[in-house]
Amino acid sequence: MAAVSELRPRHRDAEIRWPRRQGDGIHIGVNAVTIRPGTLDDWPAATRLFEFAFGHRSSDEVLAAWSGEIGDSMVVATDTGSVVGQTMDLPMTTTVPGGAQLTGRGISLVAVAPTHRRRGLLRAMFTEQHKRIAASGVPLALLTASEASIYGRFGYGAATIESRVRIDRRLAKMHAGVPDPGGVRVVSVAEATELVPAIYERWQALTPGAQVRPKAMLDRYLANADKPGSTPPYAIVHRDGYALFARRTKDNEGIARVFEFRAVTADAHAALWRILLSLDLVTYVEAVQSPEDPLQYMLTDSRLVEVDEREDALWVRIMDVPAALEARTYSADLDVVVEVRDGFLDAGGTFALTVADGKARCVRTEAPAQVSLDLAVLGSLYLGAHRARVLAAAHRLWAKDSETLRVFDLAFQTDRAAEMGWGF
Ligand SMILES: CC(C)(COP(=O)(O)OP(=O)(O)OC[C@H]1O[C@@H](n2cnc3c(N)ncnc32)[C@H](O)[C@@H]1OP(=O)(O)O)[C@@H](O)C(=O)NCCC(=O)NCCS
Repeated sequence: MAAVSELRPRHRDAEIRWPRRQGDGIHIGVNAVTIRPGTLDDWPAATRLFEFAFGHRSSDEVLAAWSGEIGDSMVVATDTGSVVGQTMDLPMTTTVPGGAQLTGRGISLVAVAPTHRRRGLLRAMFTEQHKRIAASGVPLALLTASEASIYGRFGYGAATIESRVRIDRRLAKMHAGVPDPGGVRVVSVAEATELVPAIYERWQALTPGAQVRPKAMLDRYLANADKPGSTPPYAIVHRDGYALFARRTKDNEGIARVFEFRAVTADAHAALWRILLSLDLVTYVEAVQSPEDPLQYMLTDSRLVEVDEREDALWVRIMDVPAALEARTYSADLDVVVEVRDGFLDAGGTFALTVADGKARCVRTEAPAQVSLDLAVLGSLYLGAHRARVLAAAHRLWAKDSETLRVFDLAFQTDRAAEMGWGF
């Protein structure tokens, strides 16, 4: 392997001729580092690097589930034959506001060896990968971010909001009017594996941001739920919802950690929470919720839903602005010219966006912009989780006047909170 000192310090200083093809590989001028398509032969080294980067070990089942997904999507960086960086992408279908199902690619396995960081390898791999994704014509690229400061420069915006909450179950009481619909059964994990996919599918079709989930990924999820110190997963199922959880003890307190809760109806939501909040020998129930989860309003003491952490979960990069904006629905009619800046590839431009009779039309135009924003900001607005007026107050979005901003803000609102379906 080339000594680190032999590597050029920064790609901008290194006069890289941006990816040019040589044979089946793509070579850049950072000494011996080669960016090329990955193959299954690279998989063991890639997973080792990923585990090293994140400081955890994945089970054989998880690795097998992932290796089945890589196809020809992996891009690796090698230095004298050793893998020193990688990224891959999975096919992903996602619900957008209004219920349309949009195809995209979900970026995953991103890591660069600590010996090769901050020399432009991620940027070089991402450039190659995203050019391929753009050429495939899918309107969206998705990812989850280890750090919030990395992906905005590549046009990704945080597009969902998740809160990790903790409820002291012993004190929780429901308001008198909250129904007690019943209909919940305790089932084995094997039975849950049979029942969950159909309920998830109905929930996914309703929920902006939620992705179709391949069966192997549910199995992976259940295998991975078994964290050190926790019990194996338990499942409770209603005909319109389910909760998957594990239990552990910390400081003599019993904790039930709900790692997946999906309810298609308000009755299923109430029925499942009534059971979770009546688990004997459990002090705290932990769960992940969207900001619009009704639980806090169902309890006589809303403060019992304590937020431990707020996370961004799903990030969106719009690869094709007209296709993505025409696919979703809006809460108000619009007739606006939007300038979108893409500092990474060439998805940006100036677009006339009109919404009338429930149908959106988005075409390139030469007309002067009335709203201007980075592609990453449009990604944050796209699923409805973030508000245009708040981003304008943060100086991340410009509108020509307050009426333009008011209508733009209103139009992008949705009637169901965006949520990520599964982590990838
Ligand atoms: C994050 C990681 C992949 C970056 O790889 P890298 O090869 O060092 O990144 P690059 O040198 O290509 O940097 C690309 C750009 O991102 C920026 N960047 C990279 N890592 C960053 C970080 N952790 N925080 C903020 N900015 C970051 C660089 O400054 C650079 O900006 P510029 O090109 O606009 O000047 C690498 O540090 C890593 O493997 N980290 C641990 C695992 C991880 O977090 N993976 C991401 C999973 S979502």
